[in-house]
Amino acid sequence: MKKSACIYVAGAEGVIGAALARTLVRRGYTRVLCAAGGGPDLAEGAAVEKFFARARPEYVFHTGGRTAGVGGNVRFPADLALENLLAAANVLAAAQRSGVRKLLYLAGSCAYPRDCPQPMREEYLMTGPLEPTSEAYATAKIAGLRLAQAMRRQHGAPFIAGIAPNTFGPGDDFSPENSHVAAALVRRFHEARLAGRASVTVWGTGRPRREFLFADDLADACIFVMKHYDGAEPINLGGGTDLAVADLAEMVRAVVGFRGRIRFDPRRPDGAPAKVLDSSRLRRMGWRPRTPLRRALEVTYAWYCRAAADGQAEGGGGAPGSGARIDPRLTAGASHRASREAPGPTSPRRKPGAASRRRRRGGA
Ligand SMILES: NC(=O)c1ccc[n+]([C@@H]2O[C@H](COP(=O)([O-])OP(=O)(O)OC[C@H]3O[C@@H](n4cnc5c(N)ncnc54)[C@H](OP(=O)(O)O)[C@@H]3O)[C@@H](O)[C@H]2O)c1
Repeated sequence: MKKSACIYVAGAEGVIGAALARTLVRRGYTRVLCAAGGGPDLAEGAAVEKFFARARPEYVFHTGGRTAGVGGNVRFPADLALENLLAAANVLAAAQRSGVRKLLYLAGSCAYPRDCPQPMREEYLMTGPLEPTSEAYATAKIAGLRLAQAMRRQHGAPFIAGIAPNTFGPGDDFSPENSHVAAALVRRFHEARLAGRASVTVWGTGRPRREFLFADDLADACIFVMKHYDGAEPINLGGGTDLAVADLAEMVRAVVGFRGRIRFDPRRPDGAPAKVLDSSRLRRMGWRPRTPLRRALEVTYAWYCRAAADGQAEGGGGAPGSGARIDPRLTAGASHRASREAPGPTSPRRKPGAASRRRRRGGA
């Protein structure tokens, strides 16, 4: 991947996409297509097709599509499935037709069966039933994985797929409705500390084991496999820290400086009992994460405090300090944000509170 290559990061305002964009720019890639509030609506085939025809990206990191935490997955399974199916179909088809040099499709560990042997090896995909709370979303992500493989087989498309563990970092979605566990805990402990509360309640039993990776480390892994991996099988992009949610809560409590108690609410869903990737294939290729979990939480919390002070703490990875350079070709024409209606009361809200979304709704 030459430094002058044209690289499109789909979903560049998400926590992962933003980390990718700023990492690429920091490393001297000069043509990174991403923009605050820009880019086509990935659910609109014609808009995506037009974008590829005009921008002609050579490399594509597909990290776009709607995401949610456990609560959002339970409440909005159809919206999550539909948008991710459309995004995968539209981006992969346009990339294949426009003849990109390479594309990385990103899925998450929810693509593995609920009761998968741990740690989860790539060959365990589709060997058992999925976790019911995220089944619809995970099915859409698996469809994307399979589509990438099918396009390789039928058209010789240079598509690879990666599977990431729980990822968090600056620009994450901290909203109560949509956040994943690490961001949700950061916010809850922070607010409890400010309010002087005696305790914080954590959803579920605290027993599930999860693997956590800093977004900047995942970005590094994505760039690494874009350069060095060309297999048809999806590759796990993990190798971070795995621990029980209760232990993560304790670590976040310490980072935030909350002195009260931690309570667990077992009436709330736990999700899968364990989700830890076996990333030995990636490790054998010479990649491993650099950021210790505690340090990653400290950086994320520092970002959250700055963003909260600016009133932007509920997402938008392009917000404070992302440093991603905006390519004017993406700002020209209608952005997906401008072309989409604000989510209705029955939709999973897309990081409500992020500055750009507020603008889209005409709010403050
Ligand atoms: N975070 C994790 O723990 C994790 C772990 C493993 C895999 N993944 C995968 O990695 C990908 C990125 O995750 P993430 O956590 O970075 O997600 P995220 O923070 O929710 O970001 C998703 C990005 O996609 C954009 N997007 C959503 N729908 C769109 C549409 N119709 N048109 C254009 N853009 C759209 C969002 O834009 P808006 O800002 O406008 O909504 C945002 O920029 C997802 O596909 C997810 O499955 C995530």
